[in-house]
Amino acid sequence: MIKEEIKNRFSKALVKAFGDELAEENPLIMPATNPKFGDYQCNIAMSLAKKLKQKPREIATKILENLDINDLSETPKIAGPGFINITLKPSFLQEKLKNIQTDTRLGVEKAQHPQKIVVDFSSPNIAKEMHVGHLRSTIIGDSIARVLEFRENDVLRLNHVGDWGTQFGMLIAYLKEVYPQALTTADALDLGDLVALYKQGKKRFDEDEKFQETARKEVVKLQAGEKDSVYAWQLLCQQSRKAFQEIYNLLDIKLTERGESFYNPFLADIVEFLEKQSLIEENDGAKCVFLEGFTNKQGDPLPLIVQKSDGGYNYATTDLAALKYRLEKDEAQRIIYVTDAGQSNHFAMVFQVAKKAGLIKDNMEAIHVPFGLVLGEGGKRIKTREGETIRLIDLLEKAISRAREDLESRLVEENRKESEDFISNVAKVVGISAVKYADLSQNRTSNYIFSYDKMLALSGNTAPYMLYAYVRVQGISRKGNIDFQNLGEDTKIVLGEETELVLAKHLLQLSEAIVEVEKDLLPNRLCEYLYELSKKFNQFYDRCPVLQADEPQRTSRLILSDLTARTLKLGLSLLGIEVLERM
Ligand code: ARG
Repeated sequence: MIKEEIKNRFSKALVKAFGDELAEENPLIMPATNPKFGDYQCNIAMSLAKKLKQKPREIATKILENLDINDLSETPKIAGPGFINITLKPSFLQEKLKNIQTDTRLGVEKAQHPQKIVVDFSSPNIAKEMHVGHLRSTIIGDSIARVLEFRENDVLRLNHVGDWGTQFGMLIAYLKEVYPQALTTADALDLGDLVALYKQGKKRFDEDEKFQETARKEVVKLQAGEKDSVYAWQLLCQQSRKAFQEIYNLLDIKLTERGESFYNPFLADIVEFLEKQSLIEENDGAKCVFLEGFTNKQGDPLPLIVQKSDGGYNYATTDLAALKYRLEKDEAQRIIYVTDAGQSNHFAMVFQVAKKAGLIKDNMEAIHVPFGLVLGEGGKRIKTREGETIRLIDLLEKAISRAREDLESRLVEENRKESEDFISNVAKVVGISAVKYADLSQNRTSNYIFSYDKMLALSGNTAPYMLYAYVRVQGISRKGNIDFQNLGEDTKIVLGEETELVLAKHLLQLSEAIVEVEKDLLPNRLCEYLYELSKKFNQFYDRCPVLQADEPQRTSRLILSDLTARTLKLGLSLLGIEVLERM
């Protein structure tokens, strides 16, 4: 990382200028706020003024006297109160680009201390509709996992499916009533729309007291492991799983299902464990943990209930058991939970209990990664024209069909003919990428408005814009009959034009962008990087002829184009987005 290299040079200069006590001082290197002043800036002089009792500009001068950076930068300049500006030398950029030309990781280092990390994401609920919140969790969680994996961490992707709870009593009782044959046929029956079954069962439950009793008994039977009930439960899970898998296939998501039921055998243990730590207090027969910083509207302390007065356990109990299992059995050093911001309190409470109980030790981390809502046009809840909740599969399929319409009208305009295979593949890739990118390019903590028109536009910060930049490079290779992998023996990179320099610098910052995503778990940083890259490439391409240029510019520009395409491909893959050779 260039930033890291500059940092090291400044660290050395600080020690040389002011002695060993500054050995640990962070030199505060950042990308220049204004490209007019250079590429990076060092802001340390201002923050040291007090400590060293010297004027910032004097400090900056002393740093420069001791700074060894000529190979890398033009003469550094002091500006304003004491900023030090660094402008990278073309010769240095040329050398660095040459290094990444043959590197499949494009200069992105592996993590220095790879960790075992659990990413808990997607996690829909059995027999309920997977909604747009789960879509966000799936897309964001997958991207975070991809980035962590690329940095060579050992990532366990877990789908914490809601497959347990009292609602199953109602579902099983209803299933037995309306579909008795489901329990006796050898081949699993297609139960059709589970969500409808759920609704009808719920209605039956609300209207009929006798049915309520049957449902309650079913819960007990299920928990006791009675064969029929367990079978019915499995049937329901399987049916939901099929529907979820359809979405995961479309989105290319890999996940290990480990639902709430998995932790069932550990629920009593976790409560006992908390009791041993003297963390439990009884309140109206319920077992609770009282926490700091959580109060209700009246200002009374709010408890986290881990066992209800009827003996049942809660969502939080399961999460505590899961946390313990993941830290102890999976040996996770970090657990990342990707859910909507509505669950922030839940996780804050669970984490606090886990810390108090000594489950999360100093070298371990549990992190909630919250995200905002997806809204329909007009900023309201997203729904169909009839006012129903939108099914995810319909939403994705509509994105694909919209992408197809766009493509077909472009084909007519351009008088192009393409095969059905080509059209359906492009439509699928563009449609799915557009949905993913629209989600990931937002700062995840904010709400965003879901708009097919916006996400499918060929210009602006959209997937199609980025895919198109990639296609442009492939077009160069087709037109000039260029094999990027074999550009010849001693190819040179020469950076003369401003747009070439700007593109080159940006290409060398991929690793900075990725490390930032890894640190803050904000995939939108990578989107911004890729958007800038596409814009800078397009500016370069408008200004600099490639195939028509004379040598050595021609080969050099081909390398720049190829590096752009490879960077786009790699960066997009970390967002879960596939590229196209033509579109
Ligand atoms: N099933 C939950 C829901 O739909 C999300 C679970 C998130 N993960 C967790 N460990 N609590 O809201």
